This record gives sequence, structure tokens and C-alpha cells, in this order.
Amino acid sequence: MDILHCSFECYPAAKVGGLADVAGALPKYLNQVNLSTALIMPKHDTPWLNQASFAVDYAGSFRWYYGDVGFRVLRETTGTLGFPLYVVELNDLFLRRGIYVRENGYPYHDEPERYIAFQLAVLNWVKQFQTKPKLIHVHDHHCGLIPLFMQCGPEFHALRSIPTVFTIHNGLYQGAFSWDKKYILPYLPSQVYGLLDWNDAINPMACAVKCAQAVTTVSKGYLQELMQFANGLETLFQKEHQKCFGIINGIDGEVWSPERDRYIDHLREGSLSREFKKANKESLCRDYGFKFDKPLFIFIGRLVHEKGADLIPDAINKLLQQTEVYMLLLGSGSADIEQALRLCSVKHSAHVKYAQGYNEPLSHRMYASADFLIMPSRIEPCGLNQLYAMHYGTIPIVNDIGGLRGSVTDLTDASPRGIKIKNATVDELYNGLKRAVSLFQNPELLDSISIKNMQIDFSWNEAIKPYLAIYEYLTKSKTMI
Ligand code: ADP
Ligand code: GLC
Repeated sequence: MDILHCSFECYPAAKVGGLADVAGALPKYLNQVNLSTALIMPKHDTPWLNQASFAVDYAGSFRWYYGDVGFRVLRETTGTLGFPLYVVELNDLFLRRGIYVRENGYPYHDEPERYIAFQLAVLNWVKQFQTKPKLIHVHDHHCGLIPLFMQCGPEFHALRSIPTVFTIHNGLYQGAFSWDKKYILPYLPSQVYGLLDWNDAINPMACAVKCAQAVTTVSKGYLQELMQFANGLETLFQKEHQKCFGIINGIDGEVWSPERDRYIDHLREGSLSREFKKANKESLCRDYGFKFDKPLFIFIGRLVHEKGADLIPDAINKLLQQTEVYMLLLGSGSADIEQALRLCSVKHSAHVKYAQGYNEPLSHRMYASADFLIMPSRIEPCGLNQLYAMHYGTIPIVNDIGGLRGSVTDLTDASPRGIKIKNATVDELYNGLKRAVSLFQNPELLDSISIKNMQIDFSWNEAIKPYLAIYEYLTKSKTMI
């Protein structure tokens, strides 16, 4: 194995959002260029993981604050993912329905323990390899202490010289916890405590930024934003900027393909893109009782403040007073936002439908069918929805931030891809929706943008190139600075 990825989610095994899509694609595309790459994640209680077939790769234990903790590492045996998938089986901590939070949305009381146990299990597993990976690539704060443990933990001395890459998918979530819980850490010399600390707390994201040899985030625009606003870590990003890189995510063409997508009603045949959109829109509209000849808007996403879905009810309210449009909303998350979307769908029951929950097949049908995707995010490090939408010929309406800024161009641009709003406000979103309605009234322009968008190359074949360059550099020199 050349590269080991560590992530808390991975599609199709366990998915909450885009981290899973990236973790399920990047190792596959690295293997396709002959870089032997595997991924390890916890064995959560998901239907996919419960039904998959596994062989035991390793059974061991790690020393923890209350004694030895037994765990197993299992290897998925069908090999259908395109890369070796390993899972850490530690049922007390991982065999739970919610990956990060309980099913009712409340946090787990032992969140830091779960992440630390995962990281300790991974390192205890890797430590006994005869041939160690050339590089370890960790994703988000859940795996953010791995670089420090490897470099400074006496137990992991054998891993000290392996370079690490840390990818930030979302800087809002840093995994910080109180120094009162220092006892859940493995033994570390006290002189390295400073590497763990940020604002008097143990901060795994800050620690990873300090300790990893290279730090990447999922778009150039978001990296710039992190220097200005990073939930308290701005000065750290400014200080470490030399080893930080913004690399936009790709699309996994084996999962997201208008020609092969197993979830959509009508596949695209050759270049018949108009027919593809029309047939899919018709069948989705039929299912939801929508009129086919009116604009169809969709929203798909986690219902958290950063995604801006709370702006939709007021904006659609205003729009529906003037014109007839249809809207299908899919997502789950905060109870307040779910309730607001539910009320909106009751109030406009003929025009707005809200599908509560997580529904992968429906999401694919929506991307294939809609005219417009709404993405009024307040924060969007990369955003995959707008990429999937464009790939399926759906025009994105996005707030001009983070990864949305670099991947979508406005109607006023020489090569328009979508509609940009300047701020995540009801008025801006309403204006964006109105501009979309005008575009809908110009079917030639709408079709030409939609068809051009479907031809853009958002593939991982391109997106892996900067990662390959970083890996090559680090495995030769071990430091980016
Ligand atoms: P984030 O990772 O912040 O949630 P991204 O745009 O990177 O945002 O990725 C979101 C991913 O999750 C996409 O694959 C999107 O289709 C999917 N998704 C989000 N919410 C749902 C849902 N309720 N049902 C199905 N898929 C969803
Ligand atoms: C995070 C970000 C999202 C990004 C995804 C995958 O969840 O919120 O913008 O696309 O990770 O990198």
C-alpha cells in the first residue's frame, strides 16, 4: 500500500455528505493511476456495512485510559469499490445508527472518545505492518490527531517518518474539547501539548494544520476564505499558508453519470441531452403532481445554517405571488429548518413538496430532472451538488462563495454556467429565482447553457493531479516548506 486514507465516512458504506463522496472516489481514482491506495473508516451501523462481506485483517488492542481496548480491522472482500476498504470494528463506539450525532439529532456524549479510539486503532493497526504506507492522508478533524500521534507519540515511533496530508472539508467543525479530557489522549511528552492547544482547548483541526506536512482544502476560494474567517483559526492558516493548497473536488463518473446512473428513470443516449432532461423532468413531475411546462427548482442538502435552506420559504413565498413555479426540497437536519420547510410545503401544497430525510436515489432523480438547483450556502468549502447539477444539465443558483465561486459562472459571464447571488439573504435569493424564471422563458439559452454544462470535465481524473504532485513531493522530501 502506498497511500492510506483515513476518514469517518465513505460512499457507499456510510454517507452524511460530500466527505463520503470524496472518500469513496479519491482512492479509486488514485488506484487507476497505479498508486496503491486504501481507505480505513469505522464500521458504523449502516445498511451497506451490515450487508457487506468482510474478512478479518487484524485483531488487536490499544492501551487506553481505562485499560486495553480490543478491536478488529476487517477488509471488505468483494473489491467492487475500486480500492481496498478497511473498517475498524469497535462496536461500543461505532455500531450506532447516527454517524456523528444520534438519530434524533442530539450529540453523542462521548464524541471525542469515538474519534480518538478510531485514530488509535488505525495507528495500532498500521504500526504492525511489515511494509508501512508511504504516506497517510487524513480527512477532517475526526482524524486530525493522527499526524501528531505519529510524530510525537512514543508508542508510534515506528511511524514517525511517514509524511501526512490533512484535508479540510469543512473548517467550521474543529472537534475541539476541553483539556479536562486530556486523559483520553495516548501518552505524549508534555512539551508537545502546545501543538494540541488552540484557545485553551484541545483542537484536533488546529493540531492537524500544525503537524501535517501538507494541508489541503477543497477549493482555492475556500482556502482564501479560511485566512479571513476560520472560526478562530484564521491566524493559524495565515501562519501555515505555505503548506496549504486549495484543490477542487471531482465527480465520480462511475456513480454520477447521465448515461449509466442506476437511480434515474431515463438514461441519456449519446448526445440527446434535451431529450434526457425532458423525459426525466416529466416522470418526476408526474410523481409529484407538478406541471411539466413550468420551472422546476430543487434543493438537496443537510439542513444546517451554513446551507441557507432557511431562506427558501420566504423567497418562494414572494416568487409564487407573481409566477407559477414548482419546487422539490430534499434534506434533513435541524428541527427548526425542517419545520420551516414542512410549513412552506403545507402552505403551497400544490407547488412545493418537501421530502424529509436522506434519499440517495431521489437525489439522483432530482439532479437529472430539475431546471434549477438552489444553493444559497453561507459557507461552502467546495460543494458537490452544483457539480452534479451541471453534470446532469441542471442550472445552479449559488451564493458567490467558497467552491461555488470557482465552479459556477454567472449569466453575465462570457461562458455562463449558472446564476450567482451576492449574499445569502432572502432578497438576493428571490432575485436569483426571478432571474432563473426569465432564463426559463428563453428556452434556447437555457438549453444551450444546460448542454454546455453537461460537457464540462469535472472528473477526478483531473482533480487527482494536484494530490499526486503533493504525494510525490512529500514522499521524496517529507516537508512542503
Ligand atoms: P456537504 O458535504 O456540506 O453536505 P456537498 O455539496 O459537498 O455538501 O455534498 C453533499 C452530498 O450529499 C451530495 O452527494 C448530495 O447529493 C448529498 N445529499 C445531501 N443531502 C442529501 C439527502 N437528504 N438525500 C440524499 N443525498 C443528499
Ligand atoms: C464538506 C463541505 C462541502 C464539500 C464536502 C466534500 O462537507 O461542506 O462543501 O463539498 O465537504 O469535500
